[in-house]
Amino acid sequence: MVKEKTSMKKIIIGNLKMNILSQAERETYLGAVKKELAGKKINNAEIVLCPPAIHLESFGKVLGKKVALGGQNCFWEEKGSYTGEISPVMLKNFGSEYVIIGHSERRKYFFENDQSINQKVLASLKNGLSPIICVGETKEERQSGETMHVITRQIKEAFAGVAPGKLEKIVVAYEPIWSVGSDSIPTSNEIMEAKVLIQKILSRNFSQNMIQKMRIIYGGSVSVKTVGQACIESGMEGALIGRESLAPREFLKIARIING
Ligand code: PGA
Repeated sequence: MVKEKTSMKKIIIGNLKMNILSQAERETYLGAVKKELAGKKINNAEIVLCPPAIHLESFGKVLGKKVALGGQNCFWEEKGSYTGEISPVMLKNFGSEYVIIGHSERRKYFFENDQSINQKVLASLKNGLSPIICVGETKEERQSGETMHVITRQIKEAFAGVAPGKLEKIVVAYEPIWSVGSDSIPTSNEIMEAKVLIQKILSRNFSQNMIQKMRIIYGGSVSVKTVGQACIESGMEGALIGRESLAPREFLKIARIING
């Protein structure tokens, strides 16, 4: 296993998905986030919120530097006739530092594949965004013993053409699809095995030193109750959080546990 670099900041990412439907809801949500952040120091971890793109600018204005922002997806082209798509340049200009790429819901409902995910990874890096690359197996793949095979394929393809110097900008989220939106999580050993595997695959093309600088986090049903098993005992560098990010109190509680 690649030796841990202890100085690396952990990262807690809230994926708000297609929620927060109005300005009023947004104000309530942001008010609650500010209240939870007030007076509490989180020094060892970075907090990132990924709202629907329409809210990015307002999130930035209200939260300032306390929270980093990210998009939930971007297109691989920067500009032009691509109805409905969001450019990585737009994300950057409207306050994002991060962008989630290849979330299982994008793979499922919008037919994203390893190749388009790779194009999006390269486009986001080119435009100064840090991609949060999601990988993970379905329930069927898990049951037929294909987990390792699936992760290997997804990682290899997502990282094709990535320059070694960019590795420290990337976050990989191991998100078993059967765990997302459920209440089941893998054992801490299984999560640790996924991390070791990801590092091993990357070691074919990248130096140990580079790999140590890249954060590998866990996503799927992370809550105050599960974070110990999912992110701490498993040695992950943070969490990607869906449902619980809609409840600022719970989200910040999880952040403080990871912060240590
Ligand atoms: P969940 O979602 O925390 O609601 O399981 C995680 C995700 O989709 O990133």
